[in-house]
Amino acid sequence: MSDRNILLPVSEIPRQWYNILADIQLNPPLKPDGSPVTPEDLAPVFPMNLIEQEVSTQRWIDIPEPVLDVLRIWRPAPLYRALGLERALGTPARIFVKNEGLSPPGSHKPNTAVPQAYYNKVFGIRRMTTETGAGQWGSALAFACAQFGIECRVYMVRVSFEQKPYRKTMMAMWGGQCVPSPSSETRAGRAALARDPRTPGSLGIAISEAVEAAVTDPSGKTRYSLGSVLNHVMLHQTIIGLEAKKQFASIGLYPDVIVGCAGGGSNFAGLAFPFVLDKINGRELAIHPVEPAACPTLTRAPFVYDHGDTAGYTPLLAMHSLGHDFVPPPIHAGGLRYHGMAPTVSQLVAEGIAEPRAVTQSEAYAAGVLWARTEGTIPAPETANALAQVVKEALQAKEEGRAKVIVATFSGHGLLDLAAYEKYLAGELSDVQMSAEELRKSTEVFQNYPKPQALKSR
Ligand SMILES: Cc1ncc(COP(=O)(O)O)c(C=O)c1O
Repeated sequence: MSDRNILLPVSEIPRQWYNILADIQLNPPLKPDGSPVTPEDLAPVFPMNLIEQEVSTQRWIDIPEPVLDVLRIWRPAPLYRALGLERALGTPARIFVKNEGLSPPGSHKPNTAVPQAYYNKVFGIRRMTTETGAGQWGSALAFACAQFGIECRVYMVRVSFEQKPYRKTMMAMWGGQCVPSPSSETRAGRAALARDPRTPGSLGIAISEAVEAAVTDPSGKTRYSLGSVLNHVMLHQTIIGLEAKKQFASIGLYPDVIVGCAGGGSNFAGLAFPFVLDKINGRELAIHPVEPAACPTLTRAPFVYDHGDTAGYTPLLAMHSLGHDFVPPPIHAGGLRYHGMAPTVSQLVAEGIAEPRAVTQSEAYAAGVLWARTEGTIPAPETANALAQVVKEALQAKEEGRAKVIVATFSGHGLLDLAAYEKYLAGELSDVQMSAEELRKSTEVFQNYPKPQALKSR
C-alpha cells in the first residue's frame, strides 16, 4: 500500500530560501537608455530590504521567524501521490504533485506575499498596491497584508474580475480593495481605455496601474508588489521545491521529470529551482515549464529586452516576451495571460536547462476534469495546464514502459473557477492559437531595444 500524502513534520520546514542567482548568470535589468538599473532607481517602487534581496547573489537566505510563523498556517504542504490518475492512465509512472492549493487564498502565491508584506512592514510602509490576473495573487497579498496590518489595493484584469466576482469578496474579507483594470484612476488605465474601451485588460496594463498608484502617492508610504517575474519572488517560492526534496528523500525517490505551469514563472521556479541546482551539477533531469498555446511566451517568443508592463514603467528585463503591448486572448487560465517571463526562468530556457511545453486550453480543461474525477480535488485552470503535461509525460512513460517519477506543482484549487469549467463541460470553450503574423507584429517593437547577451551558466 502506498501513502497518498507524504507529509513533512512542521519541525522540518525549510529555514532558508535557495537563491538561484548564486548559480546562474543573468543579463542585468536596464533603463530605456541602455544603462544598468541601480538599487536607488527602484527605491520609489519597492522597499530597500526587498531590493537588496532582488540583487543578492548569496546562495542561501534566512527566512525570518515572523514569516515562518505565518507560513506555518498551511506549510509544510503535502507531497501528494496521484494513485487514482496513475490507475486511470494505466501508466507505470509514479505521479506526484506538491499541493499548494491548501493555503488560505488557495494557491502558491502567499509563499511570496507573506515575506513581501513582512519586509514592507519592517521598512515602515503602510499601503501596498498590486495587480492580479486570476485573482489568486491579489487574494494572497490581501491575506498577507492582513497578517501584518498593511492596507492593500489590487488592480484586477477586467476579464478575470468579471469571470470571478468572488475573488473581490475574498480580498475584502482580508480588508483589501479590488478594482477592475484598466480603471480610470490612473494615467496608464485611461490610456488603455482610450485605445480600446472594451479591452479585456491584461497583466501588463494592470501592472502599469499598480506601479503608478504606488509611485504617485504623495505620502511616500506606499510601495508596489509584484507576484511573479522578479528574482526575490522566485527566491521566496523555492520553499516549495526545498520541501519537496525532503519529502522525496523521506521515501527514497528522486524525480525524473519536473513540471510547473508558468505565467510569470514563480510557481514553476518554486518547485524547479532547487532541483535545477542538481541539474547544473550534472544530474539527469527533465524540467518543463508549461504555458498555454494561446500565450506562447517561452515556446515561441524571442529572448529579448522588454518592459514587464504595458506603459513601460518597469525597467527592461532580459526575458522571453511576446511584446509588452500584446493583449493575450481571454483564455480562462487568467494567471497565465502574461506577455513576459521571469528573467531567471527565461535564462534557463535560453540555456536549454529547462525545456518549455505548450498545451491547448481544451487539453488543460480535459486534464482538470480527469484530475477531479480520479483524485477528487478541483484544480485551478492554471494548474490544469501543468496537469495536461503530466498526463502527456505519464502516457509517454507507458509507451516506454518506464516507471518514471513525475512531479508537478498543484499550484492552486479551482473552487472559484467553476464558471470556466461550466463552459468547458457545456462544450463552449474554443482553442485559440497565435498566428505567425500576430507574433511578428507584437514583437516588432524589439527592433530598437538593446539585445541580451548569450550567457552560459554551466
Ligand atoms: C493557481 C495559479 N497557478 C499558477 C499561476 C502562474 O503564476 P506564476 O507563473 O507567475 O507563478 C497563477 C497565477 O496567477 C495561479 O493563480
